[in-house]
Amino acid sequence: MRNICVIGTGYVGLVSGAGLADFGNHVACVDIDQSKIDMLHGGDIPIYEPGLKELVDRNVKAGRLAFNSNVEQSVRESEVIFIAVGTPMGANGEADLSAVKTVGKMIAENLNAYKIICTKSTVPVGTGKELSELITSHAPAGAEFDVVSNPEFLREGSAVKDFLLPDRVVIGVESDRGEQIMRDVYRPLFINETPMVITNIPSAEMIKYTSNAFLAVKISFINEIANLADKVGADIHTIARAMGLDGRISPKFLHPGPGYGGSCFPKDTEALVYTGSQHGVDFTVVKGAIQANRRQRQVILEKAKELIPDLSGKKVAILGLAFKANTDDVRDTPAVDIIKGLKEAGAIVQAYDPIAAENMIKYYTPDLEVRNTVDETIESVDLIIILTEWNELRGLDLGAVKSRVNSPNIVDARNVLSVDQLKMHGFNYRNVGRSLV
Ligand code: UDX
Repeated sequence: MRNICVIGTGYVGLVSGAGLADFGNHVACVDIDQSKIDMLHGGDIPIYEPGLKELVDRNVKAGRLAFNSNVEQSVRESEVIFIAVGTPMGANGEADLSAVKTVGKMIAENLNAYKIICTKSTVPVGTGKELSELITSHAPAGAEFDVVSNPEFLREGSAVKDFLLPDRVVIGVESDRGEQIMRDVYRPLFINETPMVITNIPSAEMIKYTSNAFLAVKISFINEIANLADKVGADIHTIARAMGLDGRISPKFLHPGPGYGGSCFPKDTEALVYTGSQHGVDFTVVKGAIQANRRQRQVILEKAKELIPDLSGKKVAILGLAFKANTDDVRDTPAVDIIKGLKEAGAIVQAYDPIAAENMIKYYTPDLEVRNTVDETIESVDLIIILTEWNELRGLDLGAVKSRVNSPNIVDARNVLSVDQLKMHGFNYRNVGRSLV
């Protein structure tokens, strides 16, 4: 059991803090945003993450988890400090580390004993070295500490499960003392033999970027294969299934769609390309994936225009705004570009999402017409476009849909609808990679 403080209570910091408390550690989650701390003190969770409220409540009740906004004091009282602040994309793709540096300086000035400073945020390779130098320059003379890299692999919508039952834990550490303490922090996972990758700091920092970039490449790859399948009458689901039967490929992350979004893949791929450019390494494959991903939004728009060549004055229902199902997150969601393209073509757009509509209006499209139910959204429209694979959309009653719409046109950008059902009910449809099936 160790005394830990986690700085930053976003979905990474809050899930990690509550998870570390669940492992038996004593954890203080701190944030400079007092309103977030007030919300947490009120028993509310500032983000939508299945299972997080139960995890937080259980550990607060057990006295292992607390929240406050006094970073300095929490640092002084802790032995292990996790940095979980945002590292958004900077102007030319590089990761913006200003928050990490601000926190690093604050930690240095409060180093009243040996501590571990652990980067949980996704940071470019070389950050650990930079952080160590920054802390040394601001810490009291002779202060002892170790910087550690412990990247997160949390998927939004399943972050709690991904933290408590990870595929692997990656720890970049360069002292025995530091390694011992990190083993203690993750003791329950050691006991149940979770694979642990203990390595040096640059390797640990790279593992996060390489994993995310590879997943992004995989998605762009299957999207381009799907685009060819649509032209030649092949079925992408069969292609993906057969590919996935090869153990070297695996069936996961071969679902074609409107392109990846979220707070990680778009940012991490650009950051990796930028890091490469700083070291004379040209990431042509990752750059290709980024380009293909941008293009996939236009591919969905082209499908809409295949069904209705002249969209001006036509009513279009967008079903799904979140960048993926089971989250209210709209960061870099394909819906932004697709709604923009529809409006540029003169379409009248109305949208529905079970939980992400408020964020869409708040962060991207203040004038977006949103409706509270699917039925209201599709009433008398000329075209439906499905952009997020919400389960409720998988179960759409196409007979009822047909009776509500003005024209039976559907672009199913997530392949959630049965092609047989679409045919049976006389819809004109496009999907991604099985439009001629
Ligand atoms: C990702 C990584 O999976 C996670 O390990 C990392 O820590 C953070 O970034 P996340 O962005 O939350 O997690 O979602 P993920 O489920 O990975 O999906 C990312 C994007 O890829 C979404 O837009 C999703 O719709 C898309 N996607 C995913 C596909 O288009 N096809 C797929 O087969 C899988």
